[in-house]
Amino acid sequence: MSLAMQVGQMPRRPNPSKQPSAAPISPTASQTIFQARGLRKVYQTGELDVVALQGVDLDFHMGELVVLLGASGSGKSTLLNILGGLDVPTAGSLRYKGWDLSGGGERTLTQFRRNCVGFVFQFYNLIPSLTARENVALITEIAPDPMKPEDALDRVGLSHRLDHFPSQLSGGEQQRVAIARAIAKKPEVLLCDEPTGALDVTTGITVLEAIERINRELGTLTVVITHNAAMAAMADRVLHLSDGHIIKESHNEQRVDVKTLQW
Ligand SMILES: Nc1ncnc2c1ncn2[C@@H]1O[C@H](COP(=O)(O)OP(=O)(O)OP(=O)(O)O)[C@@H](O)[C@H]1O
Ligand SMILES: [Mg+2]
Repeated sequence: MSLAMQVGQMPRRPNPSKQPSAAPISPTASQTIFQARGLRKVYQTGELDVVALQGVDLDFHMGELVVLLGASGSGKSTLLNILGGLDVPTAGSLRYKGWDLSGGGERTLTQFRRNCVGFVFQFYNLIPSLTARENVALITEIAPDPMKPEDALDRVGLSHRLDHFPSQLSGGEQQRVAIARAIAKKPEVLLCDEPTGALDVTTGITVLEAIERINRELGTLTVVITHNAAMAAMADRVLHLSDGHIIKESHNEQRVDVKTLQW
């Protein structure tokens, strides 16, 4: 069976009992979603090579909340983009539930992005002429087994803002619409690149609460990028990135309630 066909059969919702029969990726395969080994990324710009990732090894597990912490330029977005199938590594391997994402080609990556991943970025990228409900419906209309836009917006606490346009919403509310849009197709993976980067602390907390709740209630593997060390406490696991390397990994025995975070 071709790789593309295998990926086309990926389960669209978390379902540990439906692991692919092909190529278990580790002894703990029932829990492992991603396995990266020796990931390198080199950007070639003119005569200058920029090494953004210098050999990253990591495993991500079903349902965990991971914070990826690092200074500006440390390679966080590069890593997240590769995990989400938006980019490919220059070298190394990346496997998702036994499928090879580093060598699978564009069709594989498209299927993977479409069926398995939701993205949230610092800027919300909502369509200004569409209401909150319509922005989410753009995704639910093309997803195979989506939740209703109203349900997705309810999960981020926006049931009372369904028919508001982005210009009628606060920054935090707009970001929560973007989160609803990302999770409405019920992805197994939610990747967030500095989701609170444009927000003040209080508003940022409401956005993090929405992300934490999605992770807890839907079991979505959630990766949150930040350079804000205070956010580490909300995670199950924290990966510290520096100069294209993971230099430290820490585990939190208990996740701290997002409401109590301060920065
Ligand atoms: N498309 C690109 N072309 C060339 N160099 C790039 C490109 N994207 C990123 N880089 C370089 O790769 C390195 C890592 O960038 P990356 O965006 O992953 O960092 P980051 O940790 O997300 O930083 P920030 O916190 O500022 O968003 C940086 O030195 C950056 O200049
Ligand atoms: Mg970045």
